[in-house]
Amino acid sequence: MTIRIQPTTPFNDQKPGTSGLRKKVKVFQEPGYLENFVQACFDVVGVPSGQTLVVGGDGRFFNDCAIQTILKMAAANGVTKVLVGQHGILSTPATSCVIRKYQAMGGFILSASHNPAGPDEDFGIKYNVSNGGPAPEGVTNAVFAQTLAMDHYKIVDSADIDLSVIGETQVGDMLVSIIDSVADYAELMQSLFDFSAIRQLLSSEFRMVFDAMHAVTGPYAKVILEEMLGAPQGTVINGIPLSDFGGGHPDPNLTYADALVEIMYGDNAPDFGAASDGDGDRNMILGNHFFVNPSDSLALIAANAHFVPAYAKGLTGVARSMPTSGAVDRVAEAMGIDCYETPTGWKFFGNLMDAGKVVLCGEESFGTGSNHVREKDGLWAVLFWLNVLAARKGESVESIVLHHWQQYGRNVYSRHDYEGVDATAAAQVMDHVRSYFERDLQMPRLANRLVSLWDDFAYSDPVDGSETTGQGLRVLFEDGSRIVFRLSGTGTQGATIRIYLESFEADSAKHCIDAQILLADLIAASHEISNLPQLTGRDEPTVIT
Ligand code: G1P
Ligand code: ZN
Repeated sequence: MTIRIQPTTPFNDQKPGTSGLRKKVKVFQEPGYLENFVQACFDVVGVPSGQTLVVGGDGRFFNDCAIQTILKMAAANGVTKVLVGQHGILSTPATSCVIRKYQAMGGFILSASHNPAGPDEDFGIKYNVSNGGPAPEGVTNAVFAQTLAMDHYKIVDSADIDLSVIGETQVGDMLVSIIDSVADYAELMQSLFDFSAIRQLLSSEFRMVFDAMHAVTGPYAKVILEEMLGAPQGTVINGIPLSDFGGGHPDPNLTYADALVEIMYGDNAPDFGAASDGDGDRNMILGNHFFVNPSDSLALIAANAHFVPAYAKGLTGVARSMPTSGAVDRVAEAMGIDCYETPTGWKFFGNLMDAGKVVLCGEESFGTGSNHVREKDGLWAVLFWLNVLAARKGESVESIVLHHWQQYGRNVYSRHDYEGVDATAAAQVMDHVRSYFERDLQMPRLANRLVSLWDDFAYSDPVDGSETTGQGLRVLFEDGSRIVFRLSGTGTQGATIRIYLESFEADSAKHCIDAQILLADLIAASHEISNLPQLTGRDEPTVIT
């Protein structure tokens, strides 16, 4: 089959963000846009002969078209074999699992995570490397540089292949294997958790609901929870992946997972509720009328790891992204293990896991995971909680969290997002914070606390020594409280300002008070130092976590 060398010109906006390249579908549909990015990835990573590539996505609009293009380009670039999830479906953690299991050179994940899907909504592409994790900064920067120098891409002119039938086909000299999207991942989950204990829990009085939000985790949750673990049919709701995610915004938080929230805060609520996002890497955990903050969930998972077979032998260390609360640090300290603080984005955990320095990682943005793959993993977190609930027989989610706070104290935490803000105004907000502190070299008092440090977070990777700067403005107080300002790196329109707020409460009499009340003075201080309300014209955040 002939390889066509197609002349092209560069696009100057293909810099990967926090998690790959995300743009409107219409942008990806421009001739050469997807092709240039894919070619840049092949150019940077190289394609040694005999290599396998993995391709899959969250099933959103344009997923199948993009896969056909990538297959033709992979054949033209000398890939020997490609594994593709049936119907083009592979959740992000499942892609990571498949890359690792079959020792692939890497893979393309087609997703814009929880961003809405459809012809006028978002699409995304991310290259993961051979450890199964997102390409590290060195690679993404090189890919960006390459996109700016693009003058051709390689493609074969072959017919589209049928993605719906499991089996093998040729595209040029390359073998395409359509694989079951769920099987490898389900097998990995079974090897980590005590499935018989969870099966027993799910056959008792215990009731749960899992909301797949019309996105990728539906098929995974149905097989694992309903078929393998015996949860009643109907436990998984919104379980069929739709190309527009049912018109929703599959981000598992209290705002966007409103259907689940209504069930879990309604009459006769189940004992356990969970949801995952568009591509299956995020999770939200709820008890009966109770929300588990993701930062607390990470700490609880670490503290209860001994109940779970794969982690019972102990943890070498844990890691959290900088804006994530310090709850897990307290658990690590009590366990006498290391706790690393990384910039936002899962790509920074890969080196630590590969080097054996950490087993569990998490982010405040509803992401938790372990070294079983190199992505955060929504269903993994759900199974972890189920395993802990099965082991701590009869205890509710709420009582497990309250006991945890009694033992370690509570890192009171909240994130305020201002979405769709004008990009110039967002930059002014960040500048205002900088100038507030630069103006006055003496550390001011704010919210009745003394500021001990402010900086723009920078990270030096302890494994490869790489430096990453400009990762968020931190205001640290002497009593351990924090305010962090960051601009989102995943949005496709305008800017999203994230304000992360944290204080520590040792007094268990105050543990049941709402976080927004406990953080009110820090929230007021965050507005004072950023001038956000005036600069953006916003009184309220779009989303409060
Ligand atoms: C957001 C989250 C971050 C997460 C990323 C990908 O990135 O804040 O923790 O890793 O999505 O799921 P942001 O939009 O803040 O750059
Ligand atoms: Zn996601």
